[in-house]
Amino acid sequence: MGSHDKVLITAALPYANGNLHVGHIGGSYLPADTYARYCRSVGREVLFICGSDDHGVPATLSARAEGCTPRDVVHRYHDAQERDFKGLGIRFDVYGRTSSPHHAAMSQEFFLSVNRNGFLEKRSTQQLFDAEAGIFLPDRYVRGTCPFCGQQALGDQCENCGKDQDALELIDPRSAITGSVPEVRQTTHWYFRQDRLEDRLKEWLSARDGWRPSVQNFALGMLKQGLKPRAITRDLSWGVPVPLSDDSDAGGKVLYVWFDAPIGYVTFTADLLEQRGLPRESYADWWKNPDVPIYHFLGEDNIVFHALMWPAMLMAEGTYQLPTNVVANCFVNFQFPGKDEEKMSKSRGTAVWIHEYLRDADPDPLRYYLTFIAPEAQRTAFKPDDLMRRNNDELVGTMGNFVHRTLTFVARYFGNAVPEPAVVTAEAEEMAAHLERLPGVVGEELDAFRFKNAVGAVMDLARMGNRFFDYEAPWRQRKEDLGRCGTTLHTCLHIVKALAILGEPFMPFTSEKIMEILGLHPGERRWASAAVPLQPRRSLGIAEPLFRKME
Ligand code: 2FM
Ligand code: ZN
Repeated sequence: MGSHDKVLITAALPYANGNLHVGHIGGSYLPADTYARYCRSVGREVLFICGSDDHGVPATLSARAEGCTPRDVVHRYHDAQERDFKGLGIRFDVYGRTSSPHHAAMSQEFFLSVNRNGFLEKRSTQQLFDAEAGIFLPDRYVRGTCPFCGQQALGDQCENCGKDQDALELIDPRSAITGSVPEVRQTTHWYFRQDRLEDRLKEWLSARDGWRPSVQNFALGMLKQGLKPRAITRDLSWGVPVPLSDDSDAGGKVLYVWFDAPIGYVTFTADLLEQRGLPRESYADWWKNPDVPIYHFLGEDNIVFHALMWPAMLMAEGTYQLPTNVVANCFVNFQFPGKDEEKMSKSRGTAVWIHEYLRDADPDPLRYYLTFIAPEAQRTAFKPDDLMRRNNDELVGTMGNFVHRTLTFVARYFGNAVPEPAVVTAEAEEMAAHLERLPGVVGEELDAFRFKNAVGAVMDLARMGNRFFDYEAPWRQRKEDLGRCGTTLHTCLHIVKALAILGEPFMPFTSEKIMEILGLHPGERRWASAAVPLQPRRSLGIAEPLFRKME
């Protein structure tokens, strides 16, 4: 990719019906933000898109439980989630909401195109009905036992085995509203004939390059089982109304939340471009432009939608580009010291909530830790004691210590200005050569979505910095060979600069502090600039501790 390339990055739209915990962040939002920051740093033109997924059953269920409207619920959580993201430095270019009128219009237009292209089919069908509440029970309104794996499942998808569900096939179904046993009634719905796209999907998926094997194989495996026509309308009042006013069956129906949600990525792009003074239609320069790669970041439960259903929708619509990569992570479990790993759960108290974490701790240690345990190939566990240990040993003890000893030494013995590298030494040259290569090395890991390796390479640099400092022993050199001492500190400051630049995607708050102290102007903050040492004689700011010990 050249330097003026555009990149679209999306992070799964969180349902606006609950707070965010570290599992959400580590799975989708943090890697997406890390990648977006890296892309900006190398000079790509990035649009990083997210927003709340306001429709769907969860919001309706919460509203019922709380005795308010779904709109009240989603507004409250939209704001809370946005605050959490900001607090963690997850910097979207836009944070939209799918309950906006613009989004309804965009989704309806998309629906009509798919319909015009012959991929929708109206069918009369049977559905579970809660006679006590007087409503049909789509998706998560029904609970029961998964016919595939025997675990508890919801009416749309089994969280245990990941399979799509047909609520009618659930064993022992119950209404999620009243708990009553639902009855079967007749209704009409529009079905998306994704089955007709099986061959194209298979061809497309098989040809994907650079996808995580888990994602590609999972999607291909689902295809092998065959895709069924999928109902994409619901008998509900909360959602995007089905836009077929000349069809009496369409009354009182809305689009299925998983049909409108991914279209949100496009709506929010249009919102963003409009905020920037461009016509809304210029979203097409991004979404319909073969030169713009599209990266979707999400958790494992969303793979089927982003790797199959959404591409199928895009194929059926016909004018969009398909995703370049679907970067999915597994779940993050939770583990107390000496206990078994378990799923993060609100009820069992094993979820670490972002707003609670941020009340008394800094965002960067959490970002660092979550990147380190990134569930890139399998589920991993969040261990509070491990977070503490890594914070204290690696952030405070290694990185913070190296930056601090370098800056305080320069302040004390070099008038707080970058020393002249007066003497050429093999050790300093070797370090310079490493720093020359490092932006490329870390960048390559990030472009391959290996975040854990990338952050590891940055932390290794801090370790190398400490070893170099210890080996050169500038406190001795100062007395014996001031020229060489200058070279040592010049090199150490270069390492500090590289840590700030290459560490920025992972720990933006810390990097900002270091960059301020070094007085880096915007051009010097760019990725490639990590390879360039600081100009001698330039004066520096006052050092401050970067990290705090956790108890
Ligand atoms: O799983 C979820 O939280 C969904 N709300 C994700 C939606 S992603 C998208 F397609 F918008
Ligand atoms: Zn199952």
